[in-house]
Amino acid sequence: MTSTHRTGAAPRRPIPADIDFPDALLEGLATEPKRVACKYFYDAVGANLFQQICELPEYYLTRTELSLLRRHASDFARLIGPHAEIVEFGAGSAETIGILLAALDRPRAYVPVEISNGSLLDLVGRIRADHPAVDVRPLLADFTAPLPQTLFSPGARRIGFFPGSTIGNFTRSEARDFLAGAARLLKGGGLLIGVDLVKDPAVLHAAYNDSAGVTAAFNRNLLVRANREAAANFDLARFAHYAPYNVEKRRIEMYLVSTAAQLVRVAGRQIAFAEGEAIHTESSHKYTIEDFRSLAVQAGFSPRAVWTDPDRLFSIHWLEA
Ligand SMILES: C[S@@+](CC[C@H](N)C(=O)[O-])C[C@H]1O[C@@H](n2cnc3c(N)ncnc32)[C@H](O)[C@@H]1O
Repeated sequence: MTSTHRTGAAPRRPIPADIDFPDALLEGLATEPKRVACKYFYDAVGANLFQQICELPEYYLTRTELSLLRRHASDFARLIGPHAEIVEFGAGSAETIGILLAALDRPRAYVPVEISNGSLLDLVGRIRADHPAVDVRPLLADFTAPLPQTLFSPGARRIGFFPGSTIGNFTRSEARDFLAGAARLLKGGGLLIGVDLVKDPAVLHAAYNDSAGVTAAFNRNLLVRANREAAANFDLARFAHYAPYNVEKRRIEMYLVSTAAQLVRVAGRQIAFAEGEAIHTESSHKYTIEDFRSLAVQAGFSPRAVWTDPDRLFSIHWLEA
């Protein structure tokens, strides 16, 4: 995990927030089962592939969340109030935060906390152009590390924004810990958070196994990144994208499965893969509304309003801190 925290003006040159990737990769490949944290998906190519995923017909998440944000923007503005300072955990899309900023009453500051430098630079440029009155204070950092209280101006109305159901990438206990940290950081304010819902497994399966193969390319890009940044020699043709829905654990599990027994070089080491052995690359947990509200209570929040679409695909929660 990085300890890099940079605030203020947009970073002038690419500064990787995740310079620990080769070490983290080696560590993850030495565990049983093998794993790589999903935050490493988001190099420049990965961030671009993720934007393409958001537009896929099967990927209902982004589409549904954006329509909920647009439909209920005035409700959010009323609950958040004037002169708010907004911290966004992970900040992929200017469109998502743009809807909120446009609806709010004179928002004072926007602090995107993002691990991908390219995504952050792009976002900061667009938000500064579209919302010149908002003080944009980018933070190139891992949002799972404790964030400094100095993120906010003294006395500011503190609001967290965590769209995209990124909370689903945590296990339940990690999600509780993350939310507890957010509740402390946002004390006196609140958190607006998008959470994907439990639903027909066939719909979930299709969302992570799209017919155009973009999610597969996104998953395999981790190996491309390893070849470039961790002196690895993964043969992409010998790793398959596999993303089943685990009904019992209510989560999509994403793997790269070795289709042959093989040795791969990574940062000067030889890593052995058995035929059929998997690297776990991501989980995406799904919640019921009641389940998520009870998790929020355990983390110290008071859940207030919740909004869903007519098909109950996705939810947005307002949690008071
Ligand atoms: C699933 S995307 C969501 C993007 C955006 N918030 C949206 O709703 O469209 C996750 C975003 O969070 C960033 N991210 C993932 N893990 C992170 C971490 N541990 N710390 C900071 N940013 C992270 C990724 O680079 C990416 O931009």
